[in-house]
Amino acid sequence: MPAPTVPAPAAFAQRSRPIGVFDSGVGGLTVLHELLVSLPGEDFLYLGDSARLPYGNRPPHELRAFSVQCADELLARDAKLLVVACNSATATAHEHLQRHVAATGRQVDVIGVVGPESNLAVAATRSGRIGLLATPATVASGAYERAVHGADPLTRLTSVACPHLAEIIEEDAPVTQRVVETVRGYCGPLVEAQVDTVILGCTHYPLVRPMLQRILGPGVRLITSGAAMARRVEHALGVRALANPRPGEGDYGFLCTGDAQRFRARGTRFLQLPIGEVGHVELDQRVAA
Ligand code: DGL
Repeated sequence: MPAPTVPAPAAFAQRSRPIGVFDSGVGGLTVLHELLVSLPGEDFLYLGDSARLPYGNRPPHELRAFSVQCADELLARDAKLLVVACNSATATAHEHLQRHVAATGRQVDVIGVVGPESNLAVAATRSGRIGLLATPATVASGAYERAVHGADPLTRLTSVACPHLAEIIEEDAPVTQRVVETVRGYCGPLVEAQVDTVILGCTHYPLVRPMLQRILGPGVRLITSGAAMARRVEHALGVRALANPRPGEGDYGFLCTGDAQRFRARGTRFLQLPIGEVGHVELDQRVAA
């Protein structure tokens, strides 16, 4: 019997490279939070494309181009793995991005949020009725239908596009009754469909988890991507022998395309950990139609 192939441990310089994470703004910090907790020895570099937020109302060709630009920025800074911590970008651009990275000749995994969340939802449902709350771009892509039905063709997915929810959350305005009624409106079709599991298909939505849970009822299981993403990243680093062997805590740093001070102020609420200096980067604003 041939011996199993075990990848030789990469040189320390390879293993100590950072993990790149990107989102349209601060929403992806809910994913970074889980990564920092689950993989404390790794270094992370987070890029928020805050100048072009929201992503969720944009056409697929723009999201593909923006995703490539974010990925290239992180790869130029030597990222050893890329985490797409944005559902809209994952839903419309994940495969495009994987092809782009492969074409650069780099062996860098690109991990997105749709697959891990869909698998968790299928494992969690007892009735086979799953709900999805997500941006218009994510719902229009059909990516969750494909992933959920790929995991279990007999489940029924009810998808609701929430055109303003990410912006409401990002604004950090006081939660008024009007916001609650807007969210109640989004949840209405899911209550009617009697789902028992709801995928929070946008990395901003964990911030309003208590409101969603109250509206949907305590029996409904809410699925977020953070913990599942951390397990996927850990697995990918393990099989590539790229996990950072350092015993202590790694570093984490931030870049954004918009106002750095604003990013820092808002980001602290999403990350629930201190955010130091935030660097500003310019990405090419011209995107071919
Ligand atoms: N965080 C993005 C997502 O997960 C949504 C926010 C936006 O519309 O930019 O889809």
